[in-house]
Amino acid sequence: MRPTGPKDGIAWITGASSGIGLALARRLLDEGWTVALTARRAAELQSVASAYPESRALVFPADVRDAGALAAIGERLEAEGRPIALAIAGAGIYARMGLHDLDPARLAEVFAVNLAGAVHLAAAALPGMRRRRAGQLVFIGSAASLLPLPASAAYGASKAALRHFAAALRFDAEEAGILVQIVSPGFVTTPMTAPRRRPGPFQLSAEEAAGRIRHGLGTRRFEIVFPRRLLWPMKIAALLPWPVLFRLRALMDV
Ligand SMILES: NC(=O)c1ccc[n+]([C@@H]2O[C@H](COP(=O)([O-])OP(=O)(O)OC[C@H]3O[C@@H](n4cnc5c(N)ncnc54)[C@H](OP(=O)(O)O)[C@@H]3O)[C@@H](O)[C@H]2O)c1
Repeated sequence: MRPTGPKDGIAWITGASSGIGLALARRLLDEGWTVALTARRAAELQSVASAYPESRALVFPADVRDAGALAAIGERLEAEGRPIALAIAGAGIYARMGLHDLDPARLAEVFAVNLAGAVHLAAAALPGMRRRRAGQLVFIGSAASLLPLPASAAYGASKAALRHFAAALRFDAEEAGILVQIVSPGFVTTPMTAPRRRPGPFQLSAEEAAGRIRHGLGTRRFEIVFPRRLLWPMKIAALLPWPVLFRLRALMDV
């Protein structure tokens, strides 16, 4: 169980058409990795890839909700002699949801992308990794998984489930030789946060976030959290008794 490098095989990233996934894909490509780029918008992926040699920036458009599509991409990459060393599940969507605007269909959609989509990538990347007893499986979660927040009933729940899922895999990681990690970022400037009225506390650019993630990928740490000055208070708040936590609502409307 160790961090991977370009000599181990390729990196495969979902959510590579914008925001954090795009910045991370560029960073890995700049470092010399061969990167398979996945998201639904093929034209956006092509425009990222066009800045790099064709043999190193591979465009595989897919919807992460489609398990079969991801499995087919994984099989094709391995069959073409491109072992998947690093798989990063970055595709995600946000939905505001609370007591006043429950929407079961929207909640199912959020879980289908944020949780099942990440599981589909893992299922597609794991057969090769398990055979080789090597690889790195990375899930982009969120700070919203650390603490229930107002209006976060769908998004926060999906990311909490993803963090739980990743931690459960990590128990078997050492023995399987596969490094499993969860990334829990605070606020990052991307199309996802663009509709917000004001930036969140300590909001980072997508490039800064990609830098923090890249650093974490070079370690064996399970959780890559940033910025720490936002995340540690959240982790501590999560330990508070429920009545105290609910009284802090005003602080949480960020
Ligand atoms: N921005 C933040 O403050 C923040 C904070 C913590 C965690 N995160 C997490 O970081 C990840 C990236 O978010 P972002 O902020 O960079 O948002 P973004 O710019 O909106 O990017 C989301 C990415 O996910 C892809 N995607 C969405 N639905 C998909 C689907 N069904 N199939 C395949 N790809 C899909 C999008 O591509 P297509 O539309 O082309 O499919 C896009 O590439 C997400 O998991 C998000 O939850 C973000």
